[in-house]
Amino acid sequence: MAPINSDSSAGSPAAVSGRASGPYIGSDAVIEKKNEYLMPCSFNFYKKPPQIVKGKGAVLFDSEGKSYADFFAGVSVMSCGHCNETINARVMEQLQTLQHTTSIYITQPVVDLAEKLAGVLPGDLKRSFFCNSGSEANEGAMLLARMYTGKREFIALGNSLHGRTFLTSGANGIPMWRTDPFIDDIPVHFAADASEVKRIIEERGDKIAALLVEPIQGNGGIRPLPTDFFDGLTDLMKQKTILLISDEIQTGFARTGKMFAIEHYGIVPDIITGAKALGNGFPIGFFASNDEVASCFTRPSASTLGGNPVSCQAALGVLDFIASENLAEQACEKGDILRNGLEEIAALSSRVGSPRGMGLMQGLPVLPGPGSSDKDDPAVFTDIVLEAMKDRGFLIGKNGLGRDVLAFQPPLVIGTDVIEDMLANLKSIIRTVE
Ligand SMILES: Cc1ncc(COP(=O)(O)O)c(C=O)c1O
Repeated sequence: MAPINSDSSAGSPAAVSGRASGPYIGSDAVIEKKNEYLMPCSFNFYKKPPQIVKGKGAVLFDSEGKSYADFFAGVSVMSCGHCNETINARVMEQLQTLQHTTSIYITQPVVDLAEKLAGVLPGDLKRSFFCNSGSEANEGAMLLARMYTGKREFIALGNSLHGRTFLTSGANGIPMWRTDPFIDDIPVHFAADASEVKRIIEERGDKIAALLVEPIQGNGGIRPLPTDFFDGLTDLMKQKTILLISDEIQTGFARTGKMFAIEHYGIVPDIITGAKALGNGFPIGFFASNDEVASCFTRPSASTLGGNPVSCQAALGVLDFIASENLAEQACEKGDILRNGLEEIAALSSRVGSPRGMGLMQGLPVLPGPGSSDKDDPAVFTDIVLEAMKDRGFLIGKNGLGRDVLAFQPPLVIGTDVIEDMLANLKSIIRTVE
């Protein structure tokens, strides 16, 4: 077979389409195709977006050879770094040996992964179901809660994001992610805080199957739950047989300084869901519970590609890499540098509020300006900062209800010098823009 780069027609647009290495069609042509062939719901950051073609560690490269320090990691995914050689070597070996069989045949990577995951899950959480995305993981967790409790309703928090599927999008508190015109048919009650959760439980606990929380709301603007959020709540939930689902899709796997962010709160949820960083770029999701909750899940269920050998091998590589490189500790130490720098910027600028988050998951809220020009609008100011940072070679994120929170969630392998460089540039850009 001819090697992938050796065909004689190289250079013509048809010949290069879909290739991993150049020549590239460029951002304008990518956007043109996107506008023609993708559903119009898909949007991108930046007025002048680069065509990203390559990644290594915490660095991304565009089609023109410009490099960028990646401070968003594909939204909390590439924690072990882009194109991680140790992880990808395992994946390549698996790819060339056995790609897929599905769960009706016996294979080893999925059980090795379940065993390894049980070793890092908090408390008595032990049994996993593997799927392909975060939305699917939460969908499965909600199904499990309904089966275990025999109840059909849920509580979620305002500002939450739990997925894109029918059921999970019904648990999204953020209006922009509540897409379905009939979304109110989905039986989810929203609470602003712990006292509202308690009130809903007192009123209709006999109908509630589970409470879903993100220990740190990601899309909601990097908002950690208050430290006393679970005080008195977990006992009440036990009394009323209401399960706690901790959505760790954005927070999981060492990003916050612990394997799972719920561990900062000293409690063990009934179900944990995860995805994103577990695959370091390969599609994988899971929900896990203890033996008791899992015992109700006896009716047949399967995901064709969930638990496939390739994604499982990636996840095994991720868990080994997190342990061997002490990534949780690294997230704490580097997170302190990032947080201190953001605090310094907040102290100097009237346009940003106090940073919030844990470890290498930090957000900096942008505040309204004093006047009525465009850039006094926090969302406009956020976009100007994002664009200017991109031009200087730093890709930072944004989220929040008003899309006005600067988000910093880099690969955990990022260098401290890169964090300091980013902070210096951010400081000067904010000073210039305000
Ligand atoms: C907290 C949280 N839950 C669920 C999801 C949905 O995950 P996915 O996009 O893999 O379906 C996301 C995605 O950003 C998320 O941040």
